[in-house]
Amino acid sequence: MNREYFCKKIQIDKWNEVQSFVLSTYEKEIDTVNGAMPLLITRNTICELEQILKEDTYKIFGKDIKISHSILFFSKPDWQQPIHVDDQSQYGMYTSLNIPIKNCADSTMNWYLGEYEQSVVKLDSGITYKKLTMADDTVAYNEFIDRPYVVRTNIPHSVINYSKEYRVMLVVRYVENIPLLEN
Ligand SMILES: [Fe+2]
Repeated sequence: MNREYFCKKIQIDKWNEVQSFVLSTYEKEIDTVNGAMPLLITRNTICELEQILKEDTYKIFGKDIKISHSILFFSKPDWQQPIHVDDQSQYGMYTSLNIPIKNCADSTMNWYLGEYEQSVVKLDSGITYKKLTMADDTVAYNEFIDRPYVVRTNIPHSVINYSKEYRVMLVVRYVENIPLLEN
């Protein structure tokens, strides 16, 4: 399996600008990282991001493309995210542009290729979530996402944060996929 099936480095000239914009816009949320819940970027902020990324977006797609949505992800120190597949039903996208914002040097994203099953689990609180089970969870590929990357999210994957600090990653999804190799 070619590495560009899983992810691909991408040159984002405005990476520093995106970092400082996100750090100042979400300063309070990043300082308090309350329970490390993902934060959906508001529509107004997405418009500003679109402006900052305008030339980079044009270089990626060869045309102007809208951002569908964007999420700020927090990973706890010394923590492995449960293996999961992103929910495609809402947006239909299988790629994300991941832009490191803070403390992303000491963490990896792992991908797994084994067969998996998803089942809906209902907690005592009534909240339901999709649980993924794999007979073989051998890591097929892993990468330090310490600079902007396009990553595949429609196969099982998980982030491991090895550091003692929260990892803050901006996930940008456009209305079209940034192509990755098909195998
Ligand atoms: Fe994911």
